[in-house]
Amino acid sequence: MLKMLTSKFSILIVLNILILTLSQITHDIDDVNKIVGGQVTDITRAPYMVNLRLDGKFACGGSLISPTCVLTAGHCAYKVERSKMLIQAGVTNLTETGVIAKVRRALVPDAYRDVNGAQHYDVAILVLNKTIEDRRIETIPISYSSLSTGTKINIFGWGKTKESSKVPSVQLKRASIEVISKASCKRALSDYFVSKTTFCATLPGRDTCQGDSGGPTVYQGRQYGIVSWGRGCARVAYPGVYTSLKEVRPWLEKTINQYC
Ligand code: ARG
Repeated sequence: MLKMLTSKFSILIVLNILILTLSQITHDIDDVNKIVGGQVTDITRAPYMVNLRLDGKFACGGSLISPTCVLTAGHCAYKVERSKMLIQAGVTNLTETGVIAKVRRALVPDAYRDVNGAQHYDVAILVLNKTIEDRRIETIPISYSSLSTGTKINIFGWGKTKESSKVPSVQLKRASIEVISKASCKRALSDYFVSKTTFCATLPGRDTCQGDSGGPTVYQGRQYGIVSWGRGCARVAYPGVYTSLKEVRPWLEKTINQYC
């Protein structure tokens, strides 16, 4: 009798352990997939990736395009005092220290507009107060070419991992999404102003979200776009909207030549 009881117990214990490990595994998978379809990554996969702090608080993404210049979204820098800005480079987790630089100049084009949340000419250059030199950090080359419909691009950021979330992701994330035609983007976002200075990209369940703004969209090691805006995050009907570097080239080239 006692023997039967102990064997029943051991079966129960084994079962319990099984259930616990299984739930642990599914929990982990959930964690990895929580950015609207993306996955956690690390800074070695995007060594040009920086984040913008406002009053010390994580605010936006950005990319290092020269040792002294960060490319980000206009709406991340518009009407923000540059003394409140800090750039952090070389980190995977927002809790790390990395390399910190102050902003000497925050340049937003005169053409920049917010049209009820939709963005026009959404680009900015932040000139740093020092040269960033670190073996972990690299610059990313810009491409002024257009991407054809169907091209898969990478997006990087520490933004929210779902629309309802209130906090950014501690760890850097990446997702791959597909460029869609401007016509279908305008159809999907017909209530909004989809500017000529943008392109759109999406894949079911994958998207950038608040906090990802200013980050780069990357194809074959070059930057083609900047995270700009969307309606909610990863909603079935709505693609994400990205600033097209090709379409803001006049301002971007002039500014880089003058300040970077
Ligand atoms: N405007 C957001 C930001 O400031 C980016 C939103 C992108 N949204 C989207 N659904 N793709 O971080």
